[in-house]
Amino acid sequence: MPRIAVYPGSFDPITNGHMDIVRRARRLFDKVILTVAVNRSKNSTFTLKERVAMAKACVRGLSGVEVDTFEGLLVDYLKKRGSRVIIRGVRAVSDMEYEFQMASMNRAISPEVESVFLMPDERYTYLSSSIIKEVARMGARVGDYLPAPAVEAVRKRFSRRTRP
Ligand code: COA
Repeated sequence: MPRIAVYPGSFDPITNGHMDIVRRARRLFDKVILTVAVNRSKNSTFTLKERVAMAKACVRGLSGVEVDTFEGLLVDYLKKRGSRVIIRGVRAVSDMEYEFQMASMNRAISPEVESVFLMPDERYTYLSSSIIKEVARMGARVGDYLPAPAVEAVRKRFSRRTRP
């Protein structure tokens, strides 16, 4: 049986920190499914279609990594995909409160599911999709924080004011 892990998130847009987690997860599991959430409680900058297209372009060339979408309960999605493992990136201790709550709820609903927390490289601990969009909007370079296809999409979205 291949060991399949699911890496869920908004990926609005996907960052170098997310890519770092995908690579780390892939070293531990035979297959990693990066699944983009239809997150109605979050006001996304990019549409689901755009977020998926970006993620697909970024993982092209990484074997054993697939991009998908999900809506509804994450644990139901895991069942559908034959996985029992949720991957989450933890950048700082402060992330842990929210992650602990989510993992506990997921475990309460579906006791067979395990959450696995991975730390990204220290270079990415201060990154989030929102902070990158904020500086991009104000014209800062984002090439150090985003994989190339996402840089392109962010540059287009925030047009002339963003440098590569
Ligand atoms: N590098 C850079 N940034 C990272 C990161 C990393 N390694 N890991 C997380 N982040 C950032 C994200 O960019 C995001 O930033 P933003 O808020 O500025 O957009 C933030 O951390 C957290 O976002 P993300 O990891 O995408 O999680 P989320 O909170 O948007 O999504 C779901 C959480 C979708 C997984 C969760 O809500 C869910 O499972 N929903 C389905 C419903 C469900 O089953 N609920 C019950 C479980 S509680």
